[in-house]
Amino acid sequence: MMSKHDFTTVSHIERIEQPTKEEFQRNFLSPRRPVIITGVINDWNALSLWTANYLTTLFSEKQVDISVSQNSIFTGDLENGFANLKQKMQFSDFINILASKDKFEKFYYLQQQSIPIEFPEILQDIKLPKYFDKKLFVDPTIWIGSGGNISPLHYDAMDNLFTQVSNHKRFLLFDPQQTSSLYPFPATSKIPHMSQINIEKPDLDKFPNFQKAKYFECIVELGEILFIPAFWWHQVYSLDNSNQELNISVNFWSKPPISQFLTPPGRRLAAQIPTLLKSAFRQ
Ligand code: FUM
Ligand code: FE
Repeated sequence: MMSKHDFTTVSHIERIEQPTKEEFQRNFLSPRRPVIITGVINDWNALSLWTANYLTTLFSEKQVDISVSQNSIFTGDLENGFANLKQKMQFSDFINILASKDKFEKFYYLQQQSIPIEFPEILQDIKLPKYFDKKLFVDPTIWIGSGGNISPLHYDAMDNLFTQVSNHKRFLLFDPQQTSSLYPFPATSKIPHMSQINIEKPDLDKFPNFQKAKYFECIVELGEILFIPAFWWHQVYSLDNSNQELNISVNFWSKPPISQFLTPPGRRLAAQIPTLLKSAFRQ
């Protein structure tokens, strides 16, 4: 566990209650600082409605793409991209597996799927938080899983308002300036946004600079929003020490300011554009 490494420095993420849009933009969005926002999504119907029973009634026979992990870490695959192994299954079977706690052999995760496209029936149970400019939103996405699932260290190229709808999650966050201590996969691979380090058991001979990495830690509770600025590295642990059977989150995405493409991870992404264009023209 990272907490055993006393050579790394940890800070905690600030919590603020119901900031105005202007306060959020001035104090967090513009200066690119993560923050936990409380008291804003508590009136969402999703918080009380989205139980295993309710979701199964709505989506029982729907076929869904589920990521499967043998060891709880939902790592990327150099050849194929984000999730290691996907399995198509019926939604009710997926929920039954999560609820049965019969998951000691494998771990299952519905990762980051568009709510308007895949689950339009529950779109009305959430609301766009006011903190991003509306025109910048892409589809909100949903995560459904259970305690033990780990999304390993990576960054996303968009600003994220990460909302916790059921249960809670623990986050480790590293700012973009820490990138050289976090050893991303090569910029030309399919997973340039993922770290090669297993931070539960870091191989310090191979990744010595990891010892210098500074990070932030927090637990996002039910009904809270975590602002994750684009290009901030994060590792996410689903927790289940509450009496809710599912762990559910919703992300709202927004494009970051163009200046963020000058951060170390942003530059790596921008450097890929010529390669992407070339391969597009070759087809
Ligand atoms: O597991 C997770 O909830 C991951 C979230 C994220 O990477 O944004
Ligand atoms: Fe992410």
